[in-house]
Amino acid sequence: MASSNNHETISRASLHTQKKFELIEKYIMPWAQKLMNNSNCKGLVFIDCMCNSGLYYDANNALIEGTPLRVSRILRNIAGQYPCKHVYLYFNDRDEAKTALLSEIVPKETANFHIEITSKDASELLRTIGSKLSQPNLHYFLLYDPYDANIDWEALLPFFRHWGEVMINHMVSDPVRAISQVKKKSTMQKYEGTYMVSDFEKLVPFGSDKTAYEKRILQIINALKGKRRYYVAAYPFYNTQNSQMYSLIHCTSNPVGFELYKKTAWQTFGDHSSNKNNHGRENQLMLDFDGPGTLTTQTDESCFTVLDIAKYIHYCFKGQRDVPLEAVYGSLKSHPVFPADGYRSQIRDYLKSDFGAEIKVAKDPVTGKKETRISFAEGKFNYE
Ligand SMILES: C[S@@+](CC[C@H](N)C(=O)[O-])C[C@H]1O[C@@H](n2cnc3c(N)ncnc32)[C@H](O)[C@@H]1O
Repeated sequence: MASSNNHETISRASLHTQKKFELIEKYIMPWAQKLMNNSNCKGLVFIDCMCNSGLYYDANNALIEGTPLRVSRILRNIAGQYPCKHVYLYFNDRDEAKTALLSEIVPKETANFHIEITSKDASELLRTIGSKLSQPNLHYFLLYDPYDANIDWEALLPFFRHWGEVMINHMVSDPVRAISQVKKKSTMQKYEGTYMVSDFEKLVPFGSDKTAYEKRILQIINALKGKRRYYVAAYPFYNTQNSQMYSLIHCTSNPVGFELYKKTAWQTFGDHSSNKNNHGRENQLMLDFDGPGTLTTQTDESCFTVLDIAKYIHYCFKGQRDVPLEAVYGSLKSHPVFPADGYRSQIRDYLKSDFGAEIKVAKDPVTGKKETRISFAEGKFNYE
Protein backbone atom coordinates (compact mmCIF):
# COMPACT_ATOMS: atom_id res chain seq x y z
CA MET A 1 0.00 0.00 0.00
CA ALA A 2 2.79 2.35 -0.96
CA SER A 3 1.61 5.94 -0.84
CA SER A 4 1.84 7.70 -4.19
CA ASN A 5 4.94 9.72 -3.34
CA ASN A 6 7.10 6.96 -1.87
CA HIS A 7 9.28 6.78 -4.97
CA GLU A 8 10.30 10.43 -4.50
CA THR A 9 13.73 10.88 -2.93
CA ILE A 10 12.19 13.39 -0.55
CA SER A 11 8.67 12.19 0.08
CA ARG A 12 5.83 13.84 1.92
CA ALA A 13 5.34 13.03 5.60
CA SER A 14 1.74 13.15 6.79
CA LEU A 15 0.92 14.07 10.38
CA HIS A 16 0.79 10.45 11.54
CA THR A 17 4.22 9.83 10.00
CA GLN A 18 5.58 12.84 11.86
CA LYS A 19 4.12 11.39 15.07
CA LYS A 20 5.92 8.14 14.34
CA PHE A 21 9.26 10.00 13.99
CA GLU A 22 8.52 11.82 17.22
CA LEU A 23 7.73 8.62 19.13
CA ILE A 24 10.88 6.84 17.94
CA GLU A 25 13.05 9.88 18.69
CA LYS A 26 11.55 10.31 22.17
CA TYR A 27 12.08 6.64 22.93
CA ILE A 28 15.64 6.31 21.66
CA MET A 29 17.07 9.06 23.86
CA PRO A 30 16.28 7.47 27.27
CA TRP A 31 16.76 3.95 25.84
CA ALA A 32 20.34 4.79 24.86
CA GLN A 33 21.08 6.75 28.02
CA LYS A 34 19.86 3.97 30.33
CA LEU A 35 21.90 1.33 28.53
CA MET A 36 25.10 3.37 28.24
CA ASN A 37 24.88 4.10 31.97
CA ASN A 38 25.02 0.37 32.61
CA SER A 39 28.57 -0.96 33.03
CA ASN A 40 27.62 -4.27 31.35
CA CYS A 41 26.76 -2.47 28.13
CA LYS A 42 29.75 -1.92 25.85
CA GLY A 43 27.84 -0.24 23.06
CA LEU A 44 24.69 0.24 21.03
CA VAL A 45 23.59 -0.82 17.58
CA PHE A 46 20.68 0.98 15.88
CA ILE A 47 19.39 -0.40 12.60
CA ASP A 48 16.82 1.23 10.33
CA CYS A 49 16.73 -1.33 7.54
CA MET A 50 14.20 0.71 5.47
CA CYS A 51 15.42 4.17 6.31
CA ASN A 52 14.32 6.40 3.40
CA SER A 53 16.40 9.52 2.65
CA GLY A 54 16.28 11.16 6.08
CA LEU A 55 14.35 14.16 4.73
CA TYR A 56 10.64 14.76 4.08
CA TYR A 57 8.32 17.62 3.17
CA ASP A 58 5.52 18.52 5.53
CA ALA A 59 2.15 19.93 4.38
CA ASN A 60 3.70 23.42 4.07
CA ASN A 61 6.58 22.14 1.92
CA ALA A 62 9.00 22.71 4.80
CA LEU A 63 11.77 20.12 5.11
CA ILE A 64 11.56 17.90 8.17
CA GLU A 65 13.84 15.14 9.40
CA GLY A 66 13.01 11.43 9.42
CA THR A 67 14.24 8.79 11.85
CA PRO A 68 17.84 8.36 10.62
CA LEU A 69 18.75 12.02 11.14
CA ARG A 70 16.92 12.35 14.45
CA VAL A 71 18.43 9.19 15.87
CA SER A 72 21.95 9.94 14.55
CA ARG A 73 22.01 13.27 16.31
CA ILE A 74 20.88 11.76 19.62
CA LEU A 75 23.25 8.81 19.48
CA ARG A 76 26.25 10.88 18.37
CA ASN A 77 25.69 13.09 21.37
CA ILE A 78 25.43 10.12 23.72
CA ALA A 79 28.52 8.46 22.18
CA GLY A 80 30.41 11.67 23.03
CA GLN A 81 29.56 11.18 26.70
CA TYR A 82 30.91 7.59 26.76
CA PRO A 83 34.24 7.62 24.86
CA CYS A 84 35.04 4.01 25.86
CA LYS A 85 31.80 2.65 24.40
CA HIS A 86 30.82 2.44 20.74
CA VAL A 87 27.69 3.28 18.81
CA TYR A 88 27.04 1.66 15.42
CA LEU A 89 24.28 2.83 13.09
CA TYR A 90 23.14 0.81 10.10
CA PHE A 91 20.92 2.65 7.64
CA ASN A 92 19.63 0.87 4.59
CA ASP A 93 17.13 1.52 1.82
CA ARG A 94 16.87 -0.32 -1.47
CA ASP A 95 16.41 3.01 -3.25
CA GLU A 96 19.92 4.24 -4.08
CA ALA A 97 18.90 7.88 -4.60
CA LYS A 98 17.56 7.93 -1.03
CA THR A 99 20.67 6.45 0.56
CA ALA A 100 22.86 8.78 -1.55
CA LEU A 101 21.04 11.80 -0.12
CA LEU A 102 21.17 10.38 3.40
CA SER A 103 24.95 9.81 3.10
CA GLU A 104 25.40 13.53 2.41
CA ILE A 105 23.43 14.75 5.40
CA VAL A 106 24.12 12.36 8.29
CA PRO A 107 26.38 13.72 11.04
CA LYS A 108 30.08 12.94 10.77
CA GLU A 109 31.53 9.77 12.31
CA THR A 110 33.82 10.02 15.32
CA ALA A 111 36.21 7.59 16.97
CA ASN A 112 33.32 5.79 18.69
CA PHE A 113 30.34 6.76 16.53
CA HIS A 114 30.05 4.77 13.30
CA ILE A 115 27.52 4.88 10.48
CA GLU A 116 27.18 2.37 7.66
CA ILE A 117 24.76 3.23 4.86
CA THR A 118 23.81 0.56 2.34
CA SER A 119 21.39 0.13 -0.50
CA LYS A 120 20.14 -3.41 -0.62
CA ASP A 121 17.09 -5.40 0.25
CA ALA A 122 16.33 -5.16 3.98
CA SER A 123 16.25 -8.96 4.33
CA GLU A 124 19.77 -9.23 2.94
CA LEU A 125 21.07 -6.66 5.44
CA LEU A 126 19.30 -8.35 8.35
CA ARG A 127 20.68 -11.74 7.41
CA THR A 128 24.24 -10.30 7.50
CA ILE A 129 23.77 -8.51 10.83
CA GLY A 130 21.60 -11.30 12.27
CA SER A 131 24.43 -13.80 11.96
CA LYS A 132 26.69 -11.61 14.17
CA LEU A 133 24.19 -10.90 16.93
CA SER A 134 25.89 -12.98 19.60
CA GLN A 135 28.60 -10.30 20.14
CA PRO A 136 28.57 -9.86 23.90
CA ASN A 137 27.44 -6.65 25.60
CA LEU A 138 26.18 -4.87 22.47
CA HIS A 139 22.54 -3.78 22.67
CA TYR A 140 20.48 -3.78 19.50
CA PHE A 141 17.49 -1.79 18.37
CA LEU A 142 16.04 -2.77 15.01
CA LEU A 143 13.44 -0.62 13.24
CA TYR A 144 11.51 -2.51 10.55
CA ASP A 145 9.45 0.09 8.79
CA PRO A 146 8.00 -0.87 5.40
CA TYR A 147 5.31 1.22 3.71
CA ASP A 148 3.11 -1.82 3.16
CA ALA A 149 2.22 -5.03 5.03
CA ASN A 150 5.36 -6.85 4.01
CA ILE A 151 7.25 -8.57 6.81
CA ASP A 152 10.06 -11.09 6.36
CA TRP A 153 9.84 -13.03 9.63
CA GLU A 154 12.74 -15.30 8.77
CA ALA A 155 15.10 -12.30 8.56
CA LEU A 156 13.71 -10.96 11.85
CA LEU A 157 13.96 -14.25 13.74
CA PRO A 158 17.54 -13.84 15.10
CA PHE A 159 16.58 -10.43 16.50
CA PHE A 160 13.73 -11.96 18.50
CA ARG A 161 16.06 -14.57 19.94
CA HIS A 162 18.89 -12.28 21.08
CA TRP A 163 19.20 -9.46 23.56
CA GLY A 164 17.73 -6.34 21.99
CA GLU A 165 14.57 -4.69 20.80
CA VAL A 166 12.57 -4.86 17.60
CA MET A 167 10.09 -2.25 16.43
CA ILE A 168 7.81 -3.24 13.56
CA ASN A 169 5.49 -1.03 11.60
CA HIS A 170 2.48 -3.22 10.84
CA MET A 171 0.73 -1.43 7.99
CA VAL A 172 -2.69 -2.90 8.74
CA SER A 173 -4.49 -0.52 6.37
CA ASP A 174 -2.86 -2.37 3.46
CA PRO A 175 -4.62 -5.78 3.79
CA VAL A 176 -7.83 -4.16 5.01
CA ARG A 177 -8.13 -2.28 1.71
CA ALA A 178 -6.66 -4.86 -0.61
CA ILE A 179 -7.35 -8.40 0.58
CA SER A 180 -10.70 -8.85 -1.18
CA GLN A 181 -9.33 -7.61 -4.53
CA VAL A 182 -5.95 -9.32 -4.78
CA LYS A 183 -5.42 -11.02 -8.15
CA LYS A 184 -1.64 -11.11 -8.58
CA LYS A 185 0.19 -14.21 -7.36
CA SER A 186 3.11 -12.11 -6.03
CA THR A 187 0.76 -9.98 -3.91
CA MET A 188 -0.91 -13.10 -2.51
CA GLN A 189 2.53 -14.43 -1.60
CA LYS A 190 3.37 -11.16 0.15
CA TYR A 191 0.33 -11.51 2.43
CA GLU A 192 0.95 -15.24 2.94
CA GLY A 193 4.45 -14.39 4.19
CA THR A 194 3.44 -11.45 6.36
CA TYR A 195 0.61 -13.34 8.09
CA MET A 196 2.40 -16.71 7.90
CA VAL A 197 -0.37 -18.70 6.28
CA SER A 198 0.20 -21.57 3.88
CA ASP A 199 -2.59 -20.43 1.57
CA PHE A 200 -3.88 -16.93 0.74
CA GLU A 201 -7.47 -18.23 0.95
CA LYS A 202 -7.05 -18.52 4.73
CA LEU A 203 -6.77 -14.73 4.92
CA VAL A 204 -9.90 -13.97 2.94
CA PRO A 205 -12.21 -14.39 6.00
CA PHE A 206 -10.12 -11.71 7.79
CA GLY A 207 -11.64 -9.25 5.28
CA SER A 208 -11.51 -5.72 6.65
CA ASP A 209 -11.24 -6.81 10.30
CA LYS A 210 -8.14 -4.94 11.52
CA THR A 211 -8.16 -6.73 14.84
CA ALA A 212 -7.86 -10.10 13.12
CA TYR A 213 -4.64 -9.06 11.30
CA GLU A 214 -3.22 -7.48 14.45
CA LYS A 215 -3.97 -10.58 16.49
CA ARG A 216 -2.27 -12.72 13.87
CA ILE A 217 0.90 -10.58 14.01
CA LEU A 218 0.99 -10.90 17.82
CA GLN A 219 0.57 -14.69 17.52
CA ILE A 220 3.53 -14.83 15.14
CA ILE A 221 5.75 -12.74 17.45
CA ASN A 222 4.73 -14.94 20.36
CA ALA A 223 5.71 -18.05 18.43
CA LEU A 224 9.03 -16.61 17.20
CA LYS A 225 10.28 -15.41 20.58
CA GLY A 226 10.67 -19.02 21.72
CA LYS A 227 10.57 -19.66 25.45
CA ARG A 228 11.90 -16.22 26.45
CA ARG A 229 10.07 -13.82 28.70
CA TYR A 230 8.91 -11.19 26.25
CA TYR A 231 6.97 -7.95 26.28
CA VAL A 232 5.03 -6.59 23.33
CA ALA A 233 3.24 -3.24 23.15
CA ALA A 234 1.49 -1.92 20.05
CA TYR A 235 0.01 1.53 19.47
CA PRO A 236 -2.23 2.49 16.53
CA PHE A 237 -1.67 5.54 14.31
CA TYR A 238 -4.60 7.28 12.59
CA ASN A 239 -4.73 9.57 9.59
CA THR A 240 -6.65 12.86 9.58
CA GLN A 241 -9.81 11.00 8.50
CA ASN A 242 -9.51 8.92 11.68
CA SER A 243 -8.69 5.72 9.80
CA GLN A 244 -6.07 3.50 11.37
CA MET A 245 -3.03 3.33 9.08
CA TYR A 246 -0.67 1.14 11.08
CA SER A 247 0.48 -0.01 14.49
CA LEU A 248 3.98 0.51 15.80
CA ILE A 249 4.81 -2.70 17.65
CA HIS A 250 7.63 -2.72 20.18
CA CYS A 251 9.08 -6.09 21.19
CA THR A 252 11.60 -6.63 23.96
CA SER A 253 12.70 -9.06 26.63
CA ASN A 254 13.46 -6.12 28.91
CA PRO A 255 10.61 -4.95 31.21
CA VAL A 256 12.27 -1.53 31.53
CA GLY A 257 12.16 -1.02 27.76
CA PHE A 258 8.51 -2.17 27.69
CA GLU A 259 7.51 0.37 30.33
CA LEU A 260 9.54 3.11 28.67
CA TYR A 261 7.83 2.50 25.34
CA LYS A 262 4.34 2.60 26.88
CA LYS A 263 5.07 5.82 28.73
CA THR A 264 6.71 7.45 25.69
CA ALA A 265 3.80 6.51 23.43
CA TRP A 266 1.24 8.04 25.81
CA GLN A 267 3.30 11.21 26.13
CA THR A 268 3.73 11.46 22.35
CA PHE A 269 -0.04 11.11 21.85
CA GLY A 270 -0.77 13.89 24.39
CA ASP A 271 -1.72 11.55 27.28
CA HIS A 272 -3.76 9.14 25.15
CA SER A 273 -3.09 5.71 23.69
CA SER A 274 -3.23 6.92 20.07
CA ASN A 275 -3.42 10.03 17.90
CA LYS A 276 -7.08 9.39 17.00
CA ASN A 277 -9.18 12.55 17.05
CA ASN A 278 -12.09 11.88 19.41
CA HIS A 279 -13.68 15.27 18.65
CA GLY A 280 -13.84 16.25 22.32
CA ARG A 281 -15.99 13.24 23.31
CA GLU A 282 -13.54 12.01 25.93
CA ASN A 283 -14.61 12.20 29.54
CA GLN A 284 -18.08 13.26 28.35
CA LEU A 285 -20.73 11.97 30.75
CA MET A 286 -23.41 9.59 29.50
CA LEU A 287 -26.02 7.27 31.02
CA ASP A 288 -24.65 3.88 32.00
CA PHE A 289 -27.10 1.23 30.76
CA ASP A 290 -25.32 -1.50 32.79
CA GLY A 291 -25.98 0.35 36.01
CA PRO A 292 -29.33 2.15 35.65
CA GLY A 293 -29.39 5.64 37.13
CA THR A 294 -25.61 6.05 37.08
CA LEU A 295 -23.44 8.09 34.80
CA THR A 296 -20.25 6.96 33.14
CA THR A 297 -17.83 8.11 30.47
CA GLN A 298 -17.40 6.62 27.05
CA THR A 299 -14.34 4.41 26.66
CA ASP A 300 -12.85 4.42 23.18
CA GLU A 301 -10.59 1.36 23.07
CA SER A 302 -8.68 2.78 20.14
CA CYS A 303 -7.83 5.92 22.11
CA PHE A 304 -7.76 5.43 25.88
CA THR A 305 -7.40 8.35 28.30
CA VAL A 306 -5.91 8.57 31.81
CA LEU A 307 -9.48 8.42 33.16
CA ASP A 308 -9.79 5.02 31.45
CA ILE A 309 -6.71 3.83 33.34
CA ALA A 310 -8.35 4.86 36.61
CA LYS A 311 -11.59 3.15 35.51
CA TYR A 312 -9.65 -0.05 34.83
CA ILE A 313 -7.92 0.09 38.22
CA HIS A 314 -11.24 0.67 39.98
CA TYR A 315 -12.68 -2.33 38.11
CA CYS A 316 -9.73 -4.57 39.18
CA PHE A 317 -9.69 -3.50 42.84
CA LYS A 318 -13.26 -2.46 43.65
CA GLY A 319 -14.26 -3.19 47.23
CA GLN A 320 -10.68 -3.89 48.39
CA ARG A 321 -9.46 -2.06 51.48
CA ASP A 322 -6.03 -0.70 52.41
CA VAL A 323 -4.18 -1.79 49.28
CA PRO A 324 -0.64 -0.32 49.09
CA LEU A 325 -0.78 2.34 46.36
CA GLU A 326 2.54 1.07 45.01
CA ALA A 327 0.94 -2.36 44.40
CA VAL A 328 -1.94 -0.69 42.55
CA TYR A 329 0.41 1.13 40.16
CA GLY A 330 2.56 -2.01 39.95
CA SER A 331 -0.43 -3.96 38.62
CA LEU A 332 -0.16 -1.89 35.43
CA LYS A 333 3.37 -3.14 34.73
CA SER A 334 2.14 -6.14 32.77
CA HIS A 335 -0.65 -4.24 31.01
CA PRO A 336 -0.08 -4.16 27.24
CA VAL A 337 -1.35 -0.57 26.77
CA PHE A 338 -1.52 1.32 30.08
CA PRO A 339 1.78 2.68 31.45
CA ALA A 340 2.63 2.03 35.10
CA ASP A 341 4.69 5.22 35.23
CA GLY A 342 4.21 8.82 34.22
CA TYR A 343 0.55 9.29 35.21
CA ARG A 344 0.48 8.26 38.86
CA SER A 345 -0.73 11.50 40.38
CA GLN A 346 -3.46 11.95 37.74
CA ILE A 347 -4.67 8.37 38.25
CA ARG A 348 -4.68 8.86 42.01
CA ASP A 349 -6.70 12.08 41.67
CA TYR A 350 -9.27 10.39 39.41
CA LEU A 351 -9.58 7.43 41.79
CA LYS A 352 -10.40 9.81 44.62
CA SER A 353 -12.60 12.29 42.77
CA ASP A 354 -14.47 10.03 40.35
CA PHE A 355 -14.42 6.58 41.95
CA GLY A 356 -14.84 7.33 45.63
CA ALA A 357 -11.50 5.87 46.68
CA GLU A 358 -9.99 6.88 50.02
CA ILE A 359 -6.26 7.32 50.44
CA LYS A 360 -4.36 7.38 53.71
CA VAL A 361 -0.81 6.98 54.97
CA ALA A 362 -0.39 4.00 57.32
CA LYS A 363 2.43 2.27 59.15
CA ASP A 364 3.28 -1.28 58.14
CA PRO A 365 2.82 -3.34 61.36
CA VAL A 366 5.84 -5.56 60.57
CA THR A 367 8.45 -3.18 59.11
CA GLY A 368 7.16 -0.02 60.79
CA LYS A 369 7.61 1.76 57.44
CA LYS A 370 5.03 4.33 56.41
CA GLU A 371 3.19 3.65 53.16
CA THR A 372 0.27 5.08 51.24
CA ARG A 373 -2.76 2.79 51.07
CA ILE A 374 -5.95 3.06 49.09
CA SER A 375 -9.44 1.73 49.80
CA PHE A 376 -11.75 1.28 46.84
CA ALA A 377 -15.50 1.84 46.79
CA GLU A 378 -17.81 -1.07 46.01
CA GLY A 379 -19.47 -1.49 42.64
CA LYS A 380 -19.78 0.97 39.84
CA PHE A 381 -18.64 4.53 40.10
CA ASN A 382 -21.27 7.16 40.15
CA TYR A 383 -21.11 10.84 39.36
CA GLU A 384 -24.15 11.77 41.45
C1 LIG B 1 8.09 4.12 5.57
S1 LIG B 1 9.60 4.45 4.73
C2 LIG B 1 10.79 4.35 6.00
C3 LIG B 1 10.84 5.52 6.91
C4 LIG B 1 12.03 5.57 7.85
N1 LIG B 1 12.18 4.34 8.58
C5 LIG B 1 11.90 6.72 8.81
O1 LIG B 1 11.38 6.47 9.93
O2 LIG B 1 12.31 7.84 8.48
C6 LIG B 1 9.80 2.97 3.88
C7 LIG B 1 11.10 2.87 3.06
O3 LIG B 1 11.37 1.49 2.90
C8 LIG B 1 12.02 1.29 1.68
N2 LIG B 1 11.81 -0.13 1.41
C9 LIG B 1 10.64 -0.78 1.21
N3 LIG B 1 10.85 -2.10 1.11
C10 LIG B 1 12.19 -2.31 1.26
C11 LIG B 1 13.01 -3.45 1.28
N4 LIG B 1 12.50 -4.67 1.11
N5 LIG B 1 14.33 -3.29 1.46
C12 LIG B 1 14.88 -2.06 1.62
N6 LIG B 1 14.14 -0.93 1.61
C13 LIG B 1 12.81 -1.05 1.44
C14 LIG B 1 11.34 2.26 0.75
O4 LIG B 1 12.22 2.60 -0.33
C15 LIG B 1 11.06 3.44 1.66
O5 LIG B 1 12.05 4.43 1.53
